[in-house]
Order: sequence, then C-alpha cells, then structure tokens
Amino acid sequence: MRESRSLFALTPDPAGNQPAYRQIYQRLKDAILSGRLAPGARLPSARGLAAELQLARGTVEAAYQLLSSEGYAVGRGPAGTVVNPSLSPRPSGMPVPRTPTLRTGPGIPGPEVETVPPLFRMGLPALDAFPRKTWSRLAARCARSVSAPGLAYPHPSGRSTLRHAIAAHLNVARGIVCAPEQVFITAGYQGALGLVTHLLLTPGDAVWLEEPGYFFARDAFTLAGAKLVPVPVDKDGIDVDAGLRRAKGARFAVVTPSHQFPTGAALSLSRRLALLKWAAMEGAWIIEDDYDGELRYRGRPLPALKSLDKAGRVIHAGTFSKVLFPGLRTGYLVVPDSLVERFARAAALLHPAPSHLDQATIAAFMAEGHFARHIKRMRQLYQSRRDALAEALERTLGDTLVTQPPVGGMHFLARLPTGTDDSALAARAAARGLAPEPLSRSFVQRPATSGLLLGFTNIPEDAALAAARRLKGVIELR
Ligand SMILES: Cc1ncc(COP(=O)(O)O)c(C=O)c1O
Repeated sequence: MRESRSLFALTPDPAGNQPAYRQIYQRLKDAILSGRLAPGARLPSARGLAAELQLARGTVEAAYQLLSSEGYAVGRGPAGTVVNPSLSPRPSGMPVPRTPTLRTGPGIPGPEVETVPPLFRMGLPALDAFPRKTWSRLAARCARSVSAPGLAYPHPSGRSTLRHAIAAHLNVARGIVCAPEQVFITAGYQGALGLVTHLLLTPGDAVWLEEPGYFFARDAFTLAGAKLVPVPVDKDGIDVDAGLRRAKGARFAVVTPSHQFPTGAALSLSRRLALLKWAAMEGAWIIEDDYDGELRYRGRPLPALKSLDKAGRVIHAGTFSKVLFPGLRTGYLVVPDSLVERFARAAALLHPAPSHLDQATIAAFMAEGHFARHIKRMRQLYQSRRDALAEALERTLGDTLVTQPPVGGMHFLARLPTGTDDSALAARAAARGLAPEPLSRSFVQRPATSGLLLGFTNIPEDAALAAARRLKGVIELR
C-alpha cells in the first residue's frame, strides 16, 4: 500500500450499490486474497486513508473491523492494522505474480548489489577517499535551505548555478569557452548519449567508433539504430584517415581525445585538426567523451578538443562519475550555439535534468573550491596507487602481463600473450571476487589482441601486492 495509486484504487464509488465501508473492505480483501497485500503487510492508518479518500475516519475503521472479524487483518493497537501474518502467503487458486526473467547481455543490467567494489573494478573513483563529511555538510545545508522554487520542477536544462559553475570550470580546466546556456545537465554520459542520439541520429546513420572503444557507447548507438563503423586506434588515437576511407559521410565520430578508452592514447594535434576539418566539411558531429581528462599524472591535462572547435561541430560530454562519484548519476553536455534551442526543447520534453538537491550540492561543492581541491588530491592519490600497483604487477606477473603505468585515468591496460581468452580469464577472476575487464569487450570486431583492464583507484598502496598475487593465482589456474 505504498503508492497513492493503490490508495486511489480504494476510492469507493458513490453510485455503487454497497456502502462505502463495504466497498473498501471488499477491495482490501481482494488485494489480500490475490497476494498483492502480503501477510504481515501494514495497512494504511485509518486516519491517513480516510483523509486520502476524503471519507469519515469511522468509515475506514468499519472496513478494518470487518476485515479483522473475518480474520483477514489483525489490529496491533498503536502500531495500526496489519494483514493477518498467519495467512498462507499465496492463497490457493490465486495467480502468483511472476518475476520476469531477463537474459543477460549488452545493456541488460544485473541485480542491484551494494558491496565494496571487488578488486580491479574499472571506472570507480576511490570511494574511500571521497570527502564525505564535506559533501554531507553541503547536501544537508542545501536540503535545509530548500526554498519554494526548490520544491517546484527543476529547469529541464539544469540548474543555473550549476551550469554557470561548469562553464567557469571548463574555461579554466579544459580550455573551453562557452556560455552557461550551452551547458545541459544530464543523467551522466549515458543520459547525454540518450539526448544526442534522440535529437541528431536517424536509424541507419553511420557512426565512427574507436576500435577498441567504450562498450557502453557502442551498445547505446546500437540501440539507437546506428550503423557502427569501427575505426582503429593507435598510439596517436583514432586513425582519422582510416575513418575517411571507411565512411567519409558518417554522421558522428565518438571519441575520447584526452585519454583514449581503453588504450590511454592522447589524440595527436594533427589528428585533432583532421577530425575537426572532416566534421566541418561533412556536417558531421563529433562527440567528445571527456570522462577522465582531468586525471592526468604527467604535465597538465590536455586541452579539450572542444577548445579547438571553430566550426561548432563538437559536442563535449563531461561526467561527475569519475571526478566526484557515479552514484550522483550526473554529467553534462556543452553543445554548439546552433544546437542550443533544439537541445533545450528535447531536454524539456524527454531528457530533463536531475533533482534540484544533487545539482545544488554539486554547484556548492564547485563554487566553494572543494571540487578543484578534490581533483588535485585525487591526482596525487591515484598516482601513488598506480605506481604501487605497477610495481606489484611487475614483481608478480612481469613475465605474463605487458603493462605500462598509464599517464592518466583510472585503469591499467595489461596485455596478455596472444591467443589468451581474456573473457574466460575475466570470468574465472569474477568467480573469485576479482573484477578485471576483458579487453576484447571493447572491440566491435574480433580483437587481434588480448588483455585485461585493471582499475587501480580502489586498491590502497599497501594492498597492491596482495591484489597482484590474487590475480596471478587466477591467471595460473588455466
Ligand atoms: C569511456 C567512458 N566514458 C564515459 C564514462 C562515464 O559514464 P557515465 O557518466 O554514464 O557514468 C565512463 C565510465 O566508466 C567511461 O569509461
């Protein structure tokens, strides 16, 4: 009886040929007999239900008394009335609600789990190092000071304070000059892809995807009906010439220029310029996925591709999943001027920004300097964790894995001997509580190489050696 929809279903029909209390009694009895109300479930308080249904309290009490007298419900004094706990949970002859079975596969989520992240889990920031106290203080402050407008619908494109804070941050940190009106707050990168594909993709459009590349982007474009064009990546990032040969007239290129996922390559300047030139000439859109561009451990972070975008062809996507935490499920898009109006309309109708409170807390975190400080601290922490794991992997698995400490980001790419089945290896590891990701998952076509992606952000320095030994144990199981 949690939803007001189910309370609504109890509303007696004034034209019915039964008195109101009898109608309520009958509907609750049906719910109990069908199993919709389980034994032990609490019925709404008589006072609350009466108020909800705009009836006298005595009417509801009469219905409850009748249910109790027939053994369907039990009064518990001040604790209210519950469905008789000794009833059989599935009354005979009644249909049993069926739990739908979902196949596993790309894009189909597994069950919800709440555990500490398993060793080597990719893509999670250091959960032990997040400044939770500061965050809680800001969140509590934002919740306490919630004003009447804060109770109304948020602006669908995002909260103005947050859009301003992001525009200011991107200017300093990523070299992007944009107006806050060009910034759209989304449900992370995946929400951003929903908005972009909805507005700009026609099923059948060709889309360049980095090969190897981010599997969620590949699956999202597949769902949207795109024709995937895998374009190889080398040490300079996506091979633009290969893209031109394969599909010059593509509608999109989806790239990770600052830190290619998963190889870690940075897109060279000449390729950046070639990509921008192609998009300008063909009227194509470049989606810049800047998921972890700020996490760079050598030199300064590279300016975003968007900072070079004179023709207005780059849609820049950022996320708070890495630099804050993914539980926020919040990210943003910076779109060219020419797209602002269309994005505003689509956001308003189908892809609205998330709740006020999270947005307000992020904006306060940014405006009060915590964000920049947190990123700086994480750079130092991740560098130490990366170095510790690099050393541990070299000591324990130096003969089997070929790996180089990445210059940025949150994972190692460890190459395995050619022919190793990395998916089988990852499955064996998963069965033992480790979570390396097989490199082959990042390919559209059959991969020529085999490897593991190893998240290092949640492995403290003093746990690195033990983690590497556990991985070695799994690799040697073969
Ligand atoms: C390559 C890449 N892009 C983007 C994201 C961020 O996605 P989201 O904002 O949906 O969490 C991730 C997260 O793992 C990623 O690995």
